[in-house]
Amino acid sequence: MSDEFDAVVERVRVQASPDADERERLQRAAETVMERAREAVAALPVEAEVIQVGSTARETWTAGDRDVDVFVAFPPELPRETLEEYGLEVGHAVLPDGREEYAEHPYVVGECEGYDVDLVPCYAVEDATAIQSAVDRTPFHTRYLESRLDDELAGEIRVTKQFLKGIGVYGSNLRTRGFSGYLTELLVLEYGGFRPLLDAAADWHPPVKFDPEDHGRASFDDPLVVIDPTDPERNVAAVCSATNVARFQHYARDLLADPRIALFEASEPMPYEAATVAEALDRRQTTPVALRFSAPDVVEDQLWPQLRKSLASLTDELDRRGFDVIRSAAFATDATERTDGPESEVTADDGAEAVLFAELEVAERPAVVRHDGPPVHVRQHATGFYEKYADDPKVTGPYVDGDRYVVERSREFETATAFLHSDAVFDVSLGPHVESALESGHEVLVGDDVTELADTFGVQLARYFDPKP
Ligand code: CTP
Ligand code: MG
Repeated sequence: MSDEFDAVVERVRVQASPDADERERLQRAAETVMERAREAVAALPVEAEVIQVGSTARETWTAGDRDVDVFVAFPPELPRETLEEYGLEVGHAVLPDGREEYAEHPYVVGECEGYDVDLVPCYAVEDATAIQSAVDRTPFHTRYLESRLDDELAGEIRVTKQFLKGIGVYGSNLRTRGFSGYLTELLVLEYGGFRPLLDAAADWHPPVKFDPEDHGRASFDDPLVVIDPTDPERNVAAVCSATNVARFQHYARDLLADPRIALFEASEPMPYEAATVAEALDRRQTTPVALRFSAPDVVEDQLWPQLRKSLASLTDELDRRGFDVIRSAAFATDATERTDGPESEVTADDGAEAVLFAELEVAERPAVVRHDGPPVHVRQHATGFYEKYADDPKVTGPYVDGDRYVVERSREFETATAFLHSDAVFDVSLGPHVESALESGHEVLVGDDVTELADTFGVQLARYFDPKP
């Protein structure tokens, strides 16, 4: 078994490692970017250092990746607006066809010699605890890792990244909520390799905590905690969801038990067609409901938290009203289909669509709903309750059940459809952009109507009806 494991990992190691030619081409592009950046900086009235950061600076990118991250570190006393202004000036000088993106502050992304370049201004702070903006930490990460990695470990990191990509948990954008590149590198460093990381993860019992530099200070309430070696106040794994930690554990065991290359290859299921969705519904005898609307024009890192929050509020409300939800999901047109930029920073263009989808076990309830009142012995409240309903011809009761008054009132919505078509939908707490998107128009789909989602969301529906760990 171990021979098999080693053979599989060796194949992945070779595939995921860029050859000399690829390394040279990437490094040449990076040099071009940095040289142009230095020239642009020379024209400014301040000194600034141009630094290559991220996985390409550490030889830990996986073969075929085409992202280059270059930072320009300005003096910390520079006012924020000036930093932004200079940062964009340098960015546009380096990447004349680039476009502006916005994270904590604006920066420029564009192409150079076929590579996707992020050119990000930051503050050259003394140490990572003195950061003024989240990106100020990045150069510290590079320095920390550079001094600890060798070729062997870099290879282990590439294999690990490839595995995390294969099982769909790589990336710290807020759609994925998975393992970031830096987190992956710290975990491999912690365990000394891919295999020992897998062996350990197979037996993890979250919360799992690491503090590589023994800062021993902050405590975090996350399933996976890796205190940033360069900043005691930060958990590098803060965005990694409990689901993705559990997925990693599942596939760690799976790979150990049955080593195979397929687990290193990201794959999309065959999209479901309308007819396949109809079959699944017929088999399940559930009632699917969906709200379909134009995706708000915000970056993915804003969109996804709002979609999740909206979905959670909506399903809570459906449950509360007696329309039991068996499962739910949010869909949005994949960013890569919308534009060709790096997916976590892309804004939805006009055609982008989003869907809040829920599958109900109960779609219809009777005309009455039971409403429990206070215990009779709580005199003031009980009397108030009794008097409110005693003469109401529309309620059954009040009667006494156990020690409480109870009435049976008429139900506000007897069907999930009626609720979804009503304005009560807007009373649930939706994300602000999702709320205004819904207000400017949405479609309610119920039952077999949802099969029409297959045209746009066939892959998402395939994943929904045939879920994998
Ligand atoms: N970074 C971070 N926190 C994030 C994203 C990025 O601290 N949520 C920093 C890390 O230091 C990271 C660098 O920014 O190394 C570049 O980010 P990114 O390109 O996303 O990650 P890489 O480490 O370069 O990994 P990949 O191979 O996926 O490009
Ligand atoms: Mg990168």
